[in-house]
Amino acid sequence: MTKPILILNGPNLNLLGTRQPEIYGRDTLADVEARCRTLAGQLGLAMVFRQSNAEHQIIDWIQDGRTTASGIIINPAAYSHTSVAILDALNACDLPVLEVHISNVHRREPFRHHSYVSQAAVGVIAGFGIHGYLLALRHMAVLLDPAAMPG
Ligand code: DQA
Repeated sequence: MTKPILILNGPNLNLLGTRQPEIYGRDTLADVEARCRTLAGQLGLAMVFRQSNAEHQIIDWIQDGRTTASGIIINPAAYSHTSVAILDALNACDLPVLEVHISNVHRREPFRHHSYVSQAAVGVIAGFGIHGYLLALRHMAVLLDPAAMPG
């Protein structure tokens, strides 16, 4: 049995649905988790979905993932732009990492244009709304098993 995909969410994403819906949409994080769970089931993947506002908690989950996960999908939220510690934790894992942003960070304030986490990521998805999580899951399935690529 393949180890689960770890889907991690950073600060303020617990407010999804009510937080700046013009930027992040009206779906809640529970909606995102439900959609991910459905797709993961279709792809034959197990997944663990978590959110924290605390940097140390995210780091602890990444460290646990070294032995318990087969890949990490992470929306580090504001920590993308500040956290060398999360970058270091991801680099310490021998796991494929995909970075997701709901909004197109490159269209926003300049401080959002740089992500430390991107240096650890195989790829980055930004600006596809919550669909980005599902696209990342599909790509993770291909990274884990290239034969899963459609077409
Ligand atoms: C975000 C973009 C970040 O700049 C921001 O701090 C977030 C969410 C996104 O999903 O678009 O909290 O990661």
